[in-house]
Amino acid sequence: MHAVERYVKRGFDMIESIRRAYTDLEGDYAFVIGRADDERLFALKKGSGLVIGLGEDFTCVSSDLPSILPLTRRIVRVRDGEIVALRHGSVEIHRVEDGRVVEREPEEDNESMDAAQKGGYPHYMLKEISEQPKAAQDLVHLLEASPHVTPMIEAMTTARHLYLVGCGTSYHACLLGSVYLARLARRAAIPVLAPQFIAQYCPAVEPGDVGIFVSQSGETKDVLNAVEAARGRGMRILGLVNVLGSTLTRESEVYLPLACGYEISVPATKTFTNQVVAFLALALRMGRHPSDIVAQVPHLLEKTLEEVEPQVRALEPSLKGHDDLYVLGYGLTYPIALEGALKLKEVTYAHCEGMLSTEFKHGPLSAVTQDYPVLFVGGPDNVPLLVSGINETTCRGGRAIAIAEEDPRLQVNAHDLILLPQAGALLNPLLATIPLQLLAYFHGVARGYDPDFPRNLSKTLTVD
Ligand code: G6P
Repeated sequence: MHAVERYVKRGFDMIESIRRAYTDLEGDYAFVIGRADDERLFALKKGSGLVIGLGEDFTCVSSDLPSILPLTRRIVRVRDGEIVALRHGSVEIHRVEDGRVVEREPEEDNESMDAAQKGGYPHYMLKEISEQPKAAQDLVHLLEASPHVTPMIEAMTTARHLYLVGCGTSYHACLLGSVYLARLARRAAIPVLAPQFIAQYCPAVEPGDVGIFVSQSGETKDVLNAVEAARGRGMRILGLVNVLGSTLTRESEVYLPLACGYEISVPATKTFTNQVVAFLALALRMGRHPSDIVAQVPHLLEKTLEEVEPQVRALEPSLKGHDDLYVLGYGLTYPIALEGALKLKEVTYAHCEGMLSTEFKHGPLSAVTQDYPVLFVGGPDNVPLLVSGINETTCRGGRAIAIAEEDPRLQVNAHDLILLPQAGALLNPLLATIPLQLLAYFHGVARGYDPDFPRNLSKTLTVD
């Protein structure tokens, strides 16, 4: 703002002032600037994403395409080195280089309109949770036919080191992807949060290393920074991305689309499920296993939605008054514990920590008092460990809530049990995600919050 103002005060017009400021500014950014006595708004970017929307009698600008789509489907993508002047009915693009006007036809975004409407649901979040069976089905079909799966697996197989990189929910999918790859394809893959990848692993990266960068939006700045740093060290860049045309799709040598349609609600739900489905499919294919197990996912998600919703509705009121809770998991369910805790944090504003169940006794157990809620996400292959964790909680007066397949040992030991359909250890984490998403949703709504747009959060974080 001040960088531009400096030139305005010297008598330059807005375009000229922004051009001059552009060459002064360092780093990456996307912003909009206006002047009280000028009807235009000016938008510019470097490194970050920026999209203009052209409506019937309005224009708008956003760093995140899906946020524009409920308003208009006609869009113009802004490039680095451009300044866009928006009037209420038109836009004009200028080159920073020489100030000249650039002609660019708007693109028509033809993705289904359904994503941008609530379709009878009270919130996008509930709609998107309910869409998971269909989204998984679409992805399974896409993966069967995609020419990109084979080159992706080749790159993963021949990699010197393989990294799975993401932030937030996408990082949790990386964690689970890493477990699948080790179990099914005997391939060690390092899951890492994107900024920590730069700080920790980048110095050790060499040509021959491969990174799968996972992002719903394909615009998360932390992820794009990691891509840039990794490329600088010679790493091959692969992507798992939902928003087609996003920066990450352009930066990836090969990418798989998540086929979810747009996700509007800030808390990611269907895109997490499909990230996990994609990793499962890749790991099975890489380990030369039959892929029938992936084909069962849509039906099992559907069954889970039907069966767990009444159970979650019944459980939800008992969390009233608790502003602190834990979600624990182990092995394949550890990433789900982290993801479930993140959903609860985002939507209910309660402090909810996800953690490896075996770590709970190394400190956090001290938080447990009478009725303190601890959720256990259990896999069918670790019931004895689950029971031991449950007993550590209940013998201190805490309340153990288990999310697992039916098992008499859990029925006896846990206070509450949310029963999942029988699906086996590999698919159990996908199914266990659903009651946690629903619990976050119902509890957030009961606390009076808007689950789609939690305070202080954005769907896409295009800043460092
Ligand atoms: C933001 C969102 C999170 C999301 C994270 C990564 O913080 O609020 O829900 O998980 O970004 O987003 P991405 O688009 O890269 O998956």
